[in-house]
Amino acid sequence: MGIQRKVFVTRKVPQAGVELLEEAGCNVEFWDSDEAIPKEELIRGISGAHALFCMLTDTIDGEVLDAAGPNLQVVATMSVGYEHIDLEACRERDIRVCNTPNVSTDSVAELTVALLLLTARRLLEGVHAVKDGQWGKWKPMWLCGMELAQKTVGILGLGRIGFGVARRLKPFGVKTILYHDVCRVGYADDFGASFVEFDKLLIESDVICICCNLTPQTKHKFNKSAFKKMKRHAILVNSGRGGVIQHDDLLEALISGEIAAAGLDVTEPEPLPADHPLVCQPNCIVLPHMGSNTWDSRNSMSETTAKNILAVLDNQNAVGLVQ
Ligand code: DGY
Repeated sequence: MGIQRKVFVTRKVPQAGVELLEEAGCNVEFWDSDEAIPKEELIRGISGAHALFCMLTDTIDGEVLDAAGPNLQVVATMSVGYEHIDLEACRERDIRVCNTPNVSTDSVAELTVALLLLTARRLLEGVHAVKDGQWGKWKPMWLCGMELAQKTVGILGLGRIGFGVARRLKPFGVKTILYHDVCRVGYADDFGASFVEFDKLLIESDVICICCNLTPQTKHKFNKSAFKKMKRHAILVNSGRGGVIQHDDLLEALISGEIAAAGLDVTEPEPLPADHPLVCQPNCIVLPHMGSNTWDSRNSMSETTAKNILAVLDNQNAVGLVQ
């Protein structure tokens, strides 16, 4: 019998992935909690592991990789984002990195559209008004928001999720879909989305959805100068990464009326404290990073992470190979 391969899992995760690993004969060890693993426990748990099954809340740096020892072949994150993993440190140690690129596209795209509607139509203010007893006789100008029909929607990052959002918004009768990304993408033509420079996206869009990763190029791309270029009635929705927005500048833009409202599923930092000014700002809706919170997505994310691990350990192609 060969050596049993150890996989260290940094959280309680859906069983689907664990079963795959166990069926393949791996020795699966866990941080048996719903809460993020403290670094010292991660360092203890990873020792001797052949694979790490981690989350976007775990910082995977050289110190963690060294604590694993020479067996470690793959760091597989149960997320699309991998900015928490030091890619260079993995490369230097010849450790593969994998993510879960396909399986949460629908859930995140759906959530983005839901958050956009929630924000544009001021639905939470309506719910609170009813609960707080402020619902009086019908008023012509009370809680009026923006409808999507005939509007220009701008998407930053037309990857799978950005495309999923654009596709879902088309039936609302939007007039134009613009996008900005590192390059033009062929499939944009299929539904008439036009590539524009970032400034044009800011200037012309009534609604902007941020669907991109956090990279040095996207970090704080929405800042004071960007907000000044946006329409005063514009709505900004972020389901990508919090760091794409400079939050102090966003707060100022929301208070001064430079833009109308924002819906954030991701923030910087996470969690955002309950007394953070953005949480208290009436024209800002903050959700607790729940884009992929569906059982369908989470089961598939767990399964894909396990498959990535087994593929690397067995010298096969992993679907989510980042490097
Ligand atoms: C991801 O997969 O990166 C999401 O942000 C978590 O759902």
